[in-house]
Amino acid sequence: MSHAGNPLVIIFGVLMLHSGSAQNAGFVKSPLSETKLTGDTFELYCDVVGKPTPEIQWWYAEVNRADSFFQLWDGARRQRVSINTAYGVNGVSVLAVTRVTIEDSGIYECRASNDPRRNDLRQNPSTTWIRAQATVSVLQKPSIESTDHMILPMGYHIPPITLQCNLTTSQNNHHESFWMKNGEEISDTRGEAKSTEYKLNKPRPEDSGEYMCVYTFDSAPAANATIEVKAAPDITGHKRSENKNEGERAVLYCKSVGYPYPMWTWRKLDNGISMDIDNSSGRFFISSKDGYTEMSIINLDITSDPGEYECNATNIIGSNSMPSVLRVRSRLAPLWPLLGVLAEIIILVLIIVIYEKRKNPDDVPDDDEPAGPMKTNSTNNHKDKNLRQRNTN
Ligand SMILES: *[C@@H]1O[C@H](CO)[C@@H](O)[C@H](O)[C@H]1NC(C)=O
Ligand SMILES: *[C@@H]1O[C@H](CO)[C@@H](O)[C@H](O)[C@H]1NC(C)=O
Ligand SMILES: *[C@@H]1O[C@H](CO)[C@@H](O)[C@H](O)[C@H]1NC(C)=O
Ligand SMILES: *[C@@H]1O[C@H](CO)[C@@H](O)[C@H](O)[C@H]1NC(C)=O
Repeated sequence: MSHAGNPLVIIFGVLMLHSGSAQNAGFVKSPLSETKLTGDTFELYCDVVGKPTPEIQWWYAEVNRADSFFQLWDGARRQRVSINTAYGVNGVSVLAVTRVTIEDSGIYECRASNDPRRNDLRQNPSTTWIRAQATVSVLQKPSIESTDHMILPMGYHIPPITLQCNLTTSQNNHHESFWMKNGEEISDTRGEAKSTEYKLNKPRPEDSGEYMCVYTFDSAPAANATIEVKAAPDITGHKRSENKNEGERAVLYCKSVGYPYPMWTWRKLDNGISMDIDNSSGRFFISSKDGYTEMSIINLDITSDPGEYECNATNIIGSNSMPSVLRVRSRLAPLWPLLGVLAEIIILVLIIVIYEKRKNPDDVPDDDEPAGPMKTNSTNNHKDKNLRQRNTN
């Protein structure tokens, strides 16, 4: 636990650095009471400050025997109790109890002291130690009967499936129930009955996942049951082809539905035979998470990289794969259109030059004739035309 952001701790730290004098132990954070279900885990926190840094201990008493506390040790109750304490500017301790039983109910006390006489048996501990208590109540976990885990058959024409949960025993009045899928609440599933169902009318591979019915109670923690609906991976999206220039970076991806999430692998197809990718050049990078995988190839090589690649999704139910084609063009390829235009210009210029050279000898005599009369003739012609047009109007 980090307390760097706790202003109280910073202030105490600063005070201690400057005063140098002793300071009695005080709680920064004391353990909080809570209610748990059998089988759960609970953790209690205790954070104390003082100079010198106080020692922390944990004590326990049964609820109705608050006069007789026993000290708790790391590893007590058949290793179900763990105590982790760190002493720095302040003392921080976490008491954790796993797989709790009804007998773990009781009063848990954090004791702290930096009094030099704290372990002197002649002293009354209540004057040398400060204490903070939390009450932990453990309730019998309600029992829920639920549909067994199931496997969705392949394909898209699967008969409807009904997931069911029945709350069979609970000590508390239950409040309501709802359904979750992959950790998120499914909307419109809240109800008050002890029996609840969730129907998949047209089950599809994407309906696979971890379903959970959750019952909430008026004064007890929520209880739940999990139903796994498994399905082979179905690749629902992938890059069919990627066209890049040599030296560039290509990215291929695939995504899938199906549960559990698949293990992803990438291979190269060589005449229909899939081969491991040769990564001796260190240019291939694969990153996969849940239903998504991505392979990038950097600094593309025109001789070894083009071809067909295949992503493969495999889980315990089945596997699926999809090919992607990678084309790599020469580095000069983007210049080709430009070179084409340049070539056209050069040819055009050549044609003009050649034409001009051939034409020049015939043009020579014309140049000797005076140009003046020709121009006046043309302007006159225009005038005549205009006049004629006006006359017709
Ligand atoms: C839940 O209760 C109903 C009605 O009593 C019963 O038909 C069904 O089989 C039970 N479901 C499970 C999963 O136990
Ligand atoms: C389901 O129950 C387990 C065991 O009690 C608990 O750790 C978990 O937080 C519960 N999950 C939800 C979503 O209620
Ligand atoms: C390829 O090699 C690089 C560099 O050694 C490494 O970082 C990368 O993870 C490797 N990729 C694969 C698919 O093994
Ligand atoms: C995917 O890879 C696994 C393990 O190499 C193989 O058994 C399986 O046949 C492959 N699946 C497909 C659809 O190619």
